[in-house]
Amino acid sequence: MTKSILMCAPKHFAVEYEINPWMHKDNPVQLDLAGKQWQQLHDIYSKKLGWDVQLIEPIEHLPDMVFTANGALLYKGKVALPNFRQPDRQPETEKFKQWFSDQGYDQMFLPKYNFEGEGDALIWNDILFAGYPWRTDKPSHREVADFLKIKTVSLQLADARFYHLDTALTIIDKSTVALYPKAFTKEALTLIHQLVPHVIEATDEDAVAYGLNSMSDGKNIVVPENANNLIQTYRNRGMEVTTTPISEFQKSGGGVKCLTLELR
Ligand code: ARG
Repeated sequence: MTKSILMCAPKHFAVEYEINPWMHKDNPVQLDLAGKQWQQLHDIYSKKLGWDVQLIEPIEHLPDMVFTANGALLYKGKVALPNFRQPDRQPETEKFKQWFSDQGYDQMFLPKYNFEGEGDALIWNDILFAGYPWRTDKPSHREVADFLKIKTVSLQLADARFYHLDTALTIIDKSTVALYPKAFTKEALTLIHQLVPHVIEATDEDAVAYGLNSMSDGKNIVVPENANNLIQTYRNRGMEVTTTPISEFQKSGGGVKCLTLELR
Protein backbone atom coordinates (compact mmCIF):
# COMPACT_ATOMS: atom_id res chain seq x y z
CA MET A 1 0.00 0.00 0.00
CA THR A 2 1.47 3.33 -0.96
CA LYS A 3 1.69 6.02 1.67
CA SER A 4 2.06 9.77 1.71
CA ILE A 5 4.37 11.01 4.44
CA LEU A 6 6.00 14.18 5.74
CA MET A 7 9.70 14.43 6.64
CA CYS A 8 12.04 17.25 7.70
CA ALA A 9 15.77 17.21 6.85
CA PRO A 10 18.14 17.25 9.85
CA LYS A 11 19.82 20.53 8.83
CA HIS A 12 19.46 22.02 12.31
CA PHE A 13 19.24 18.74 14.22
CA ALA A 14 21.16 18.59 17.53
CA VAL A 15 20.79 17.61 21.17
CA GLU A 16 20.52 21.12 22.62
CA TYR A 17 18.37 20.27 25.63
CA GLU A 18 17.42 17.12 27.55
CA ILE A 19 13.72 16.28 27.58
CA ASN A 20 13.82 12.49 27.57
CA PRO A 21 16.14 9.86 29.12
CA TRP A 22 18.05 9.31 25.84
CA MET A 23 19.17 12.91 25.40
CA HIS A 24 22.53 13.95 26.86
CA LYS A 25 24.13 17.20 25.82
CA ASP A 26 27.54 15.58 26.36
CA ASN A 27 26.71 12.92 23.73
CA PRO A 28 26.43 15.19 20.70
CA VAL A 29 25.00 14.27 17.31
CA GLN A 30 27.36 13.79 14.34
CA LEU A 31 25.48 15.98 11.92
CA ASP A 32 27.07 14.51 8.76
CA LEU A 33 26.15 11.01 9.79
CA ALA A 34 22.64 12.12 10.80
CA GLY A 35 22.26 13.61 7.31
CA LYS A 36 23.31 10.33 5.70
CA GLN A 37 21.02 8.24 7.89
CA TRP A 38 18.09 10.55 7.22
CA GLN A 39 18.75 10.51 3.46
CA GLN A 40 18.92 6.72 3.52
CA LEU A 41 15.52 6.53 5.19
CA HIS A 42 14.12 9.12 2.79
CA ASP A 43 15.36 7.07 -0.19
CA ILE A 44 13.95 3.82 1.19
CA TYR A 45 10.53 5.46 1.36
CA SER A 46 10.64 7.31 -1.93
CA LYS A 47 12.75 5.07 -4.19
CA LYS A 48 12.47 1.56 -2.80
CA LEU A 49 8.88 1.64 -1.57
CA GLY A 50 7.59 4.31 -3.95
CA TRP A 51 5.89 6.30 -1.20
CA ASP A 52 5.12 9.97 -1.69
CA VAL A 53 7.51 11.94 0.56
CA GLN A 54 6.63 15.57 1.29
CA LEU A 55 9.12 17.89 3.00
CA ILE A 56 8.79 20.70 5.53
CA GLU A 57 11.57 23.32 5.73
CA PRO A 58 13.85 22.81 8.78
CA ILE A 59 14.02 25.86 11.05
CA GLU A 60 17.09 27.03 12.97
CA HIS A 61 16.95 26.48 16.75
CA LEU A 62 14.16 23.90 16.38
CA PRO A 63 16.45 20.84 16.45
CA ASP A 64 13.64 18.31 17.04
CA MET A 65 11.58 19.38 14.03
CA VAL A 66 13.11 16.40 12.20
CA PHE A 67 10.73 14.26 14.28
CA THR A 68 7.72 15.09 12.14
CA ALA A 69 5.67 12.34 13.81
CA ASN A 70 5.16 14.87 16.60
CA GLY A 71 4.00 17.55 14.15
CA ALA A 72 0.38 16.40 13.89
CA LEU A 73 -2.06 13.52 13.75
CA LEU A 74 -4.04 13.29 10.51
CA TYR A 75 -7.23 11.37 9.89
CA LYS A 76 -9.50 11.71 6.87
CA GLY A 77 -7.86 14.99 5.92
CA LYS A 78 -8.32 16.56 9.36
CA VAL A 79 -5.26 17.77 11.26
CA ALA A 80 -4.89 17.60 15.05
CA LEU A 81 -1.93 19.86 15.85
CA PRO A 82 0.53 19.23 18.69
CA ASN A 83 0.47 21.01 22.03
CA PHE A 84 3.99 20.16 23.19
CA ARG A 85 4.77 19.50 26.84
CA GLN A 86 8.22 21.15 26.80
CA PRO A 87 8.67 24.85 25.97
CA ASP A 88 11.70 23.93 23.79
CA ARG A 89 9.43 22.28 21.24
CA GLN A 90 6.36 24.54 21.49
CA PRO A 91 7.40 26.89 18.62
CA GLU A 92 7.22 23.92 16.22
CA THR A 93 3.42 23.92 16.32
CA GLU A 94 3.15 27.21 14.41
CA LYS A 95 5.57 25.89 11.72
CA PHE A 96 3.59 22.71 11.17
CA LYS A 97 0.31 24.64 11.20
CA GLN A 98 1.67 26.97 8.51
CA TRP A 99 2.79 24.02 6.38
CA PHE A 100 -0.64 22.40 6.56
CA SER A 101 -2.46 25.61 5.75
CA ASP A 102 -0.09 26.24 2.78
CA GLN A 103 -1.02 22.78 1.50
CA GLY A 104 -4.72 23.66 1.68
CA TYR A 105 -5.71 21.70 4.80
CA ASP A 106 -8.55 23.68 6.34
CA GLN A 107 -9.74 21.53 9.23
CA MET A 108 -7.22 21.97 12.02
CA PHE A 109 -7.51 21.71 15.76
CA LEU A 110 -5.15 22.54 18.62
CA PRO A 111 -5.88 20.57 21.82
CA LYS A 112 -5.98 22.44 25.13
CA TYR A 113 -4.09 19.64 26.85
CA ASN A 114 -0.61 18.41 25.93
CA PHE A 115 -0.72 16.19 22.87
CA GLU A 116 2.36 15.19 20.84
CA GLY A 117 0.82 14.06 17.55
CA GLU A 118 1.52 10.64 16.07
CA GLY A 119 4.27 10.17 18.62
CA ASP A 120 1.48 9.31 21.04
CA ALA A 121 -1.34 8.48 18.62
CA LEU A 122 -1.32 5.48 16.29
CA ILE A 123 -4.26 4.52 14.12
CA TRP A 124 -5.04 0.81 13.79
CA ASN A 125 -7.94 0.11 11.43
CA ASP A 126 -10.50 2.66 12.66
CA ILE A 127 -9.28 2.82 16.23
CA LEU A 128 -6.94 5.41 17.65
CA PHE A 129 -4.47 4.06 20.18
CA ALA A 130 -3.40 7.04 22.28
CA GLY A 131 -0.54 7.04 24.78
CA TYR A 132 -0.04 8.94 28.02
CA PRO A 133 1.22 10.23 30.52
CA TRP A 134 4.85 11.19 29.79
CA ARG A 135 4.33 13.69 26.99
CA THR A 136 0.63 13.62 26.24
CA ASP A 137 -2.15 14.27 28.77
CA LYS A 138 -4.95 11.75 28.87
CA PRO A 139 -7.72 14.42 28.58
CA SER A 140 -6.28 15.41 25.18
CA HIS A 141 -7.32 11.99 23.87
CA ARG A 142 -10.99 12.91 24.23
CA GLU A 143 -10.44 16.32 22.62
CA VAL A 144 -8.69 14.75 19.63
CA ALA A 145 -11.18 11.88 19.36
CA ASP A 146 -14.11 14.33 19.28
CA PHE A 147 -12.44 16.42 16.58
CA LEU A 148 -11.41 13.48 14.39
CA LYS A 149 -14.53 11.45 15.16
CA ILE A 150 -12.63 8.27 15.80
CA LYS A 151 -12.98 5.59 18.45
CA THR A 152 -10.10 6.06 20.89
CA VAL A 153 -8.42 3.72 23.33
CA SER A 154 -6.11 5.31 25.92
CA LEU A 155 -3.00 3.32 26.77
CA GLN A 156 -0.92 4.12 29.83
CA LEU A 157 2.83 3.91 29.39
CA ALA A 158 4.95 2.74 32.31
CA ASP A 159 8.65 3.12 31.41
CA ALA A 160 10.16 6.60 30.96
CA ARG A 161 12.57 5.33 28.27
CA PHE A 162 9.53 4.63 26.09
CA TYR A 163 7.97 8.03 26.61
CA HIS A 164 6.03 8.18 23.35
CA LEU A 165 3.63 5.41 22.29
CA ASP A 166 5.47 5.03 18.97
CA THR A 167 8.64 3.97 20.80
CA ALA A 168 6.78 1.01 22.33
CA LEU A 169 4.22 -0.11 19.72
CA THR A 170 4.24 -0.65 15.95
CA ILE A 171 1.12 -1.05 13.84
CA ILE A 172 2.00 -4.00 11.57
CA ASP A 173 -1.20 -4.77 9.66
CA LYS A 174 -4.99 -5.06 10.02
CA SER A 175 -4.72 -7.87 12.56
CA THR A 176 -1.28 -7.36 14.10
CA VAL A 177 0.72 -5.00 16.29
CA ALA A 178 4.19 -5.41 17.80
CA LEU A 179 4.91 -4.02 21.26
CA TYR A 180 7.27 -3.98 24.21
CA PRO A 181 5.16 -5.35 27.08
CA LYS A 182 7.18 -3.75 29.89
CA ALA A 183 6.50 -0.27 28.47
CA PHE A 184 2.76 -0.63 29.27
CA THR A 185 0.65 -0.95 32.38
CA LYS A 186 -1.19 -4.26 32.85
CA GLU A 187 -4.48 -2.53 32.04
CA ALA A 188 -3.12 -1.15 28.78
CA LEU A 189 -1.79 -4.56 27.72
CA THR A 190 -5.13 -6.16 28.47
CA LEU A 191 -6.94 -3.59 26.32
CA ILE A 192 -4.60 -4.23 23.40
CA HIS A 193 -4.95 -8.00 23.66
CA GLN A 194 -8.76 -7.69 23.76
CA LEU A 195 -8.79 -5.74 20.49
CA VAL A 196 -5.88 -6.98 18.40
CA PRO A 197 -5.85 -10.64 17.24
CA HIS A 198 -2.06 -10.93 16.87
CA VAL A 199 0.38 -9.25 19.23
CA ILE A 200 4.13 -9.68 18.64
CA GLU A 201 6.18 -9.16 21.80
CA ALA A 202 9.57 -7.49 21.51
CA THR A 203 12.60 -8.41 23.63
CA ASP A 204 14.42 -5.91 25.85
CA GLU A 205 17.28 -5.76 23.31
CA ASP A 206 14.97 -4.97 20.42
CA ALA A 207 13.06 -2.35 22.39
CA VAL A 208 16.28 -0.60 23.43
CA ALA A 209 17.44 -0.70 19.77
CA TYR A 210 14.25 1.26 19.00
CA GLY A 211 12.85 -1.70 17.09
CA LEU A 212 9.26 -0.69 17.85
CA ASN A 213 9.85 2.67 16.20
CA SER A 214 9.28 1.17 12.74
CA MET A 215 7.07 1.93 9.74
CA SER A 216 4.91 -0.77 8.17
CA ASP A 217 2.43 -0.72 5.30
CA GLY A 218 1.33 -4.26 6.06
CA LYS A 219 3.70 -5.85 3.55
CA ASN A 220 6.86 -3.73 3.72
CA ILE A 221 8.40 -2.71 7.01
CA VAL A 222 11.32 -0.37 7.73
CA VAL A 223 13.07 -1.29 10.97
CA PRO A 224 16.08 0.17 12.87
CA GLU A 225 19.07 -2.03 12.04
CA ASN A 226 19.86 -3.57 15.44
CA ALA A 227 16.40 -4.93 16.27
CA ASN A 228 17.51 -8.44 15.30
CA ASN A 229 14.72 -10.56 16.76
CA LEU A 230 11.97 -8.38 15.35
CA ILE A 231 13.68 -8.31 11.97
CA GLN A 232 13.76 -12.11 11.94
CA THR A 233 10.16 -12.35 13.15
CA TYR A 234 8.96 -10.06 10.34
CA ARG A 235 10.97 -12.01 7.74
CA ASN A 236 9.50 -15.28 9.00
CA ARG A 237 6.03 -13.79 8.53
CA GLY A 238 6.91 -13.17 4.88
CA MET A 239 7.21 -9.39 5.18
CA GLU A 240 9.63 -7.39 3.02
CA VAL A 241 11.97 -5.99 5.69
CA THR A 242 14.33 -3.07 5.12
CA THR A 243 16.75 -2.24 7.92
CA THR A 244 18.39 1.13 8.37
CA PRO A 245 20.78 2.85 10.82
CA ILE A 246 19.39 5.46 13.24
CA SER A 247 22.23 5.91 15.77
CA GLU A 248 22.31 9.72 15.56
CA PHE A 249 18.56 10.11 16.00
CA GLN A 250 18.49 7.69 18.89
CA LYS A 251 20.77 10.10 20.75
CA SER A 252 17.71 12.33 20.79
CA GLY A 253 15.27 9.53 21.62
CA GLY A 254 14.05 9.10 18.04
CA GLY A 255 14.07 6.49 15.28
CA VAL A 256 12.43 5.51 12.00
CA LYS A 257 8.82 6.24 12.98
CA CYS A 258 9.61 9.49 14.79
CA LEU A 259 11.12 10.83 11.55
CA THR A 260 7.89 10.09 9.68
CA LEU A 261 4.40 11.62 9.75
CA GLU A 262 1.59 9.96 7.81
CA LEU A 263 -0.53 12.27 5.69
CA ARG A 264 -3.85 10.44 5.74
N1 ARG B 1 14.01 14.64 21.12
C1 ARG B 1 12.65 14.43 20.75
C2 ARG B 1 11.75 14.66 21.95
O1 ARG B 1 12.08 14.24 23.02
C3 ARG B 1 12.42 13.07 20.19
C4 ARG B 1 11.04 12.88 19.64
C5 ARG B 1 10.78 11.48 19.16
N2 ARG B 1 9.55 11.39 18.49
C6 ARG B 1 8.70 10.39 18.57
N3 ARG B 1 7.66 10.39 17.79
N4 ARG B 1 8.83 9.41 19.44
O2 ARG B 1 10.71 15.26 21.86
